[in-house]
Amino acid sequence: MTESATEPSVEITRMMDGAVIAQLIHLVAELGVADVVDGARSVDELASFTGTEPEALYRALRTLASIGVFTEVAPRTFDLTSLAVPLRSDAEDSVRELATVRGSREHWLALGELRHSLCTGRSAFARAYGTDWWSYLDENPEHAAKFSKAMGDNFAQVHAAAAGASDFPDTKLLVDIGGGRGDLVATLLQRHPAMHAVVFDRPHAVADAAELLQSAGVADRAQVTAGDFFEGVPEGGDTYVLCRILHDWDDQQAAHIMSNVADVLPAGGRVVVIEAVVPEGDESHPAKLMDITMLAMHKGKERSESEFAALFESAGLRHVRTLHTNAQISVLIAEVDRTTKVQEKPPSQ
Ligand SMILES: C[S@@+](CC[C@H](N)C(=O)[O-])C[C@H]1O[C@@H](n2cnc3c(N)ncnc32)[C@H](O)[C@@H]1O
Repeated sequence: MTESATEPSVEITRMMDGAVIAQLIHLVAELGVADVVDGARSVDELASFTGTEPEALYRALRTLASIGVFTEVAPRTFDLTSLAVPLRSDAEDSVRELATVRGSREHWLALGELRHSLCTGRSAFARAYGTDWWSYLDENPEHAAKFSKAMGDNFAQVHAAAAGASDFPDTKLLVDIGGGRGDLVATLLQRHPAMHAVVFDRPHAVADAAELLQSAGVADRAQVTAGDFFEGVPEGGDTYVLCRILHDWDDQQAAHIMSNVADVLPAGGRVVVIEAVVPEGDESHPAKLMDITMLAMHKGKERSESEFAALFESAGLRHVRTLHTNAQISVLIAEVDRTTKVQEKPPSQ
């Protein structure tokens, strides 16, 4: 057992406060507090800009300052710190939308039902709301738009790292399965001037894609297609990308999506899966916490490299390599497994 620096009971009690910290970060992001701290500001000014009660806001900011998010530069006067900057809307690495979504009532109520997930392996969100997350988004377009924006903004670094790590040497037509607003396609088409691409996602998720691709200057090489990847995926691509898709689904559902992709993959084509890879053993990795969020929200899961390889195999694909990036995301490449395809052929008479 590893020795801890403080008493174990004190340390574990501090961990229990994680929920309070998460909710405070969510609230200062959602209320736009970091956005109005443009230099040192008194708590009374901040409260009047954000419609909050000054004493309560003071106590929230004092708590956050005690862990390095904001700093109290003079009594009841706060300024930004490097940890507070990403909570602003205009920060280059802004996570404001993500904090808004991650701390939302939808996530919070789902986590309140986590016991249901632990006891049954099923979705806590579905238990709390009586429907699955994607149907809920269909019925709540405002929350769906927030979620899409949060994914797009938060994954800008992921998309850049993945685009940098993967080479797309001969790709003529790339299909981004579950491509959302088209952020990754925009990044890839800007890097590869000869490439064409299709953004494929549910209708509400692709609603803003044409506009985003237009403003990225790549609309003439991009097509937007609405559909359901459980029913089938667009044909004609030579490279199929799935960025943070498989972790939303359990093994059976993920295998279904992969086999729909494998069905349209031409000989010599590739599947590029962009996901966090869970390290074996006790190693700390954000994917381990995200795994629990995936379980609660979707009965989904983050996977280890060998679990991905098994998933590819179940769809008749072969894992050929994994490229690791510095953004705690990996790029797994799979190709048609010729041995499986040959074995599947009926014996000749
Ligand atoms: C975690 S987001 C990832 C979005 C995008 N790939 C990215 O990297 O920013 C998962 C995406 O899967 C899409 N999705 C969920 N169910 C789908 C379905 N049945 N068919 C097509 N897309 C689906 C969602 O709309 C969402 O855009």
